[in-house]
Amino acid sequence: MTNAAHSHTSSPHVAHRDVAHQEADHRDGERQDVHQDARHDVGHQDAARQAVHPDPARQDAVQREVLDLDAEVLADHAASITAWLPVEADPRRIVDLGSGTGAGTFALLDRFPEAHVTAVDASVDHLARLREKAREKGVADQVRTVEADLTAEWPDLGQPQMIWASAFLHHLPNPGPFLRQVHDVLAPGGLLAVVEMSGLPRFLPADAPEFRPGLEERCHEVSDRRFAAHLPYRGADWGPLLTAAGLILGGERKITINVGMDRSPTIGRYALTVMRRLRAAVADQLPEEDLAALDDLLDTDSPRSLLRRTDLAVRAERHVWAARRPAASGPSRGDN
Ligand SMILES: C[S@@+](CC[C@H](N)C(=O)[O-])C[C@H]1O[C@@H](n2cnc3c(N)ncnc32)[C@H](O)[C@@H]1O
Repeated sequence: MTNAAHSHTSSPHVAHRDVAHQEADHRDGERQDVHQDARHDVGHQDAARQAVHPDPARQDAVQREVLDLDAEVLADHAASITAWLPVEADPRRIVDLGSGTGAGTFALLDRFPEAHVTAVDASVDHLARLREKAREKGVADQVRTVEADLTAEWPDLGQPQMIWASAFLHHLPNPGPFLRQVHDVLAPGGLLAVVEMSGLPRFLPADAPEFRPGLEERCHEVSDRRFAAHLPYRGADWGPLLTAAGLILGGERKITINVGMDRSPTIGRYALTVMRRLRAAVADQLPEEDLAALDDLLDTDSPRSLLRRTDLAVRAERHVWAARRPAASGPSRGDN
C-alpha cells in the first residue's frame, strides 16, 4: 500500500476521527474497543470480551485504570526504553500507535521534549484520558489524538520520524500488511519502536498464597490456553516480521521487570485491578478451590486480601525492537 492510500480524510469508509479538540464527542460506549491489553489481555474477540466484562464501556474504564497504573508503576522502565532507542537525530514528529492513555506518548515527550506526538487509538475514552493528562503535564500543544481503528484504513498521520507501538502489535490478526503500512508512513530513515510484554505480569511469590500455593500461575495457564487462539502473535518474535516489511533491524532488547512494594506504593491496587480482570477471564475454568482462594485474595474486606499483603511485586518481561526504514526506500510491496 502506498502513502496515497493513507491520505483519505473524508471517505465515509474511513474509521477514524481527529479528536484533538472534540471533548463534546465523547460518548460512553459509542465505540467498542474490540481489543485487549497485552499486559492484561484476555482475548480480542467478542466472545472473549464477554468473558471479561459484558459491558464494553465498563471494560474500557477498567482497562484505562490498568493502563494508568501500569504507566505509573513502570515509568522507570519506559524511560529506560526511550533512552535506549537508537535515534540518529531527535525526532520532531512521532506517532504512538495504540496509544492507550499515553504511557508511551509521555515517556517519548520526556525523552524528546521538542517533539510533537500524534496518539492513535480505537478507544475514545482512552484518548480523552490522554488529553486530560497532556493538559495536566502542560504539553497539550504537543499532543494530537486521533481516534481510529488501525485494522481499517489508516488516517493521515503525516510522515513521522518515529513510530512507537507498545503492547499493541500482538492485537493484529495479520501484522504483515500493517507493518508495511508503518514502513510506508515512516519518513525515510525513520525509526519504528516495538514494545511487547511476554505475558501478563505476576504479583505473588511462586509459593503464595499460603492457603493455595501456585494459584496465580494456574490462573495464567487457564488464561493463556483460553486466549491463545485469539491472539496468535502474542509473544511473537517481531524481528523477522519487521524485516519482511522492508525495515532494517537496528536493535533488540529484553527487559526484566521486578518492582517491589518498597519502590511503588500502588502495587497492591495494580495487582488487584489486574487480577480482577484475570478472574473474569478464567473463573469458569478454575477448580472450585482455586476460585474460592482467588476470591479471598480479591475480597478487600478479607484478612487474606491482596491489599493486606506485603510480599507483592510486579514481575514481567518486556521485549523491545527498533527498526528503521531505509533512507532510500520506496513504498513496500507484498500481497499479504
Ligand atoms: C495494551 S493497550 C496499550 C496502550 C499503550 N500503548 C501502552 O503501552 O500503555 C492496547 C491499546 O491498543 C488499542 N487498540 C487495540 N486495537 C486497536 C485497533 N485496531 N486500532 C486502534 N487501537 C487499537 C486499545 O484501545 C488499547 O488502548
